[in-house]
Amino acid sequence: MSIVILAIETSCDETAVAVVEDGFRVLADVVHSQVPDHQKFGGVVPEVASRQHLEAVNPLLEEALSRAGMDWTGVHAVAVTYGPGLVGSLLVGVTAAKAAAFALDRPLIGVNHLEGHVYANFLTQTDLHFPLLALVVSGGHTDLVHMAGHGRFALLGCTRDDAAGEAFDKVARLLGLGYPGGPLIERAAAGCDPGAVSLPRAYLEPGSLDFSFSGLKTAAAKLKAQGLASGVIAAAFQRAVVDVLVDKTLAAAGRCGVRTVLLAGGVAANGLLRDELAARVEGAGLRFCCPPRHLCTDNAAMIGCAAYYRLLRGDLAGLDLNAVPGLPLGD
Ligand code: KG4
Ligand code: ZN
Repeated sequence: MSIVILAIETSCDETAVAVVEDGFRVLADVVHSQVPDHQKFGGVVPEVASRQHLEAVNPLLEEALSRAGMDWTGVHAVAVTYGPGLVGSLLVGVTAAKAAAFALDRPLIGVNHLEGHVYANFLTQTDLHFPLLALVVSGGHTDLVHMAGHGRFALLGCTRDDAAGEAFDKVARLLGLGYPGGPLIERAAAGCDPGAVSLPRAYLEPGSLDFSFSGLKTAAAKLKAQGLASGVIAAAFQRAVVDVLVDKTLAAAGRCGVRTVLLAGGVAANGLLRDELAARVEGAGLRFCCPPRHLCTDNAAMIGCAAYYRLLRGDLAGLDLNAVPGLPLGD
């Protein structure tokens, strides 16, 4: 018998609901983006986000079921992101999921948002072999994670200041490009020589797998003050971020002896990062995987996929599940 999971994701500024069968067949995947609501503020306003989730979540649940061609009775389990993220946003999803699980008398599964990003890879690749290394790059995180098996994560390195996506967003704002910054930096950089100006790359102490991006932001601001064109700064910035991400991922892969490297999170939608990491990983004789672009940014299909593997190992949540804004991934 197949297992159909209804998954809800509301950790930041996208309300998302998906219906996933057997961990990989996406029967419905709907995302309501709040970008227009936050654009005028130049970033996510937590109070606005939770109110928008509250308005969007019920209609989106109905829409997802209808797109999957089913009703509530076809749902075998309900999954939800319970952290990390904005507490008010997370609570909307967690409450909706608990209500659905209780009313349907079905299991409830709590999923870590970053775990979800990693599992976006399992939606399209069903033959991944452990151990794996994952680079998770989002608006809130820049993590190098070793994955020994399903649900077995160990953090090898993380950012000491800004996350990669946060750096994209901040630099886009100072260049006057708008929000969210990642895709706008990528567009502005297109056709510009990334070597026209040089920006610093923070490698930290020798052997460190941690990241630091805040110096890059300051350096970009200086170039802007000197009157350099936005496209040139965007190209140099993007190149500097990608260089450090790729170098450290390769170093981590070598150190822990994995055969497969996964890329995940919103910044994984970046073309230069996808291409460079693929070339370097494959050049080292390893296998490279990254989700299609629409599954890199926040969505609920990835939550449904991660939840499937939790369900298989009996890792269920109780109706006392709460939002955990600072939930870590692994040890
Ligand atoms: O994973 P995500 O959708 O939400 C969080 O969990 O934070 O990631 C959002 C981040 C934002 O910082 C956004 O600017 C960045 O991902 N992003 C990109 C691109 N698309 C989204 N960064 C670089 N290039 C892109 N094409
Ligand atoms: Zn995310």
